[in-house]
Amino acid sequence: MSTTILHKKNLIPGKTSKLTLYAPEIAARARPGHFVMLRMHDKGERIPLTIADIDPEKGSIVVVYLVVGKSTAFLESLAEGDDILDVCGPLGRPTHIEKGGTAVCVGGGTGIAAMHHIAKGHFRAGNRVVGIIGARSKDLLLFEKELSSFAHELLVSTDDGSYGRKGLVTELLRERLEKDMAVFEVVAVGPVSMMAAVAETTRPFGVRTTVSLNPVMVDGIGMCGACRVSVGGQTKFACVDGPEFDGHQVDFAELRRRLAAYRDQEKLSLDMYERRLHEN
Ligand SMILES: Cc1cc2nc3c(=O)[nH]c(=O)nc-3n(C[C@H](O)[C@H](O)[C@H](O)COP(=O)(O)OP(=O)(O)OC[C@H]3O[C@@H](n4cnc5c(N)ncnc54)[C@H](O)[C@@H]3O)c2cc1C
Ligand code: FES
Repeated sequence: MSTTILHKKNLIPGKTSKLTLYAPEIAARARPGHFVMLRMHDKGERIPLTIADIDPEKGSIVVVYLVVGKSTAFLESLAEGDDILDVCGPLGRPTHIEKGGTAVCVGGGTGIAAMHHIAKGHFRAGNRVVGIIGARSKDLLLFEKELSSFAHELLVSTDDGSYGRKGLVTELLRERLEKDMAVFEVVAVGPVSMMAAVAETTRPFGVRTTVSLNPVMVDGIGMCGACRVSVGGQTKFACVDGPEFDGHQVDFAELRRRLAAYRDQEKLSLDMYERRLHEN
């Protein structure tokens, strides 16, 4: 199914944008935690992006992406009104959301946008939502306004101290858990190193910890095996068994290794794309 970009908002110049896409069938069925696969043109690869918000009445979904390689660079070159060849979804298992008390939702970098949809789900289920968000600096912090419209508490950290607490989200998380043992779940979405650190922070507290994994995906529907991850010693496919898993059981070292496996080819592909852009 093709889709049209209804609205584009650049959040971090040249790096991160928020797209509202017309996709009524997906908007009607999507739940927090779901993702879509986008293919921009007939020679393009399919890339997974988390559904950061939905508006079933307008038939639209929101995705937020960080430009890291050729496909996300091409996506960034599109404008409002442009078409995207394929959008497939909603994919993956939705977040398991139950009413349990206080849920702490931790987001890092672009992951804050995806975490925002999960946090909203907890809010709608009647849970007390504590949002903890972090970025390298103030200008890279996303979705603070959106989260503060419903989160009961919002704690912010930046690596350089330009906004909120200077330091990492895990320091805020540890302090918050020490203050309030009634937290029934911690959810983390962000860079692999952040999710691994969140899982280590919550382990001594024995709090259920859910992380949203981002392995390389090819088909997104369980056929190719590209998204293989190890969880509790078992092989899982993130696109159909996840992408959310028990953070205390995930083999993060393996995930890091697998994410880096095609780095040379990905760099070459981006270099060639940029060279062609400059030549034209
Ligand atoms: C379920 C899921 C949901 C995702 N949601 C989002 C989202 O909402 N927003 C967003 O910006 N990104 C998201 N990602 C990551 C996104 O799919 C990749 O960044 C994208 O496919 C990269 O494509 P590319 O061609 O631009 O870069 P590539 O050339 O493929 O890669 C360039 C660089 O990015 C790294 N990379 C490649 N694939 C991934 C990946 N899956 N995760 C992290 N780093 C990767 C590579 O190691 C390399 O360093 C998600 C991934 C998954 C699996
Ligand atoms: S992406 Fe192919 S099996 Fe998951």
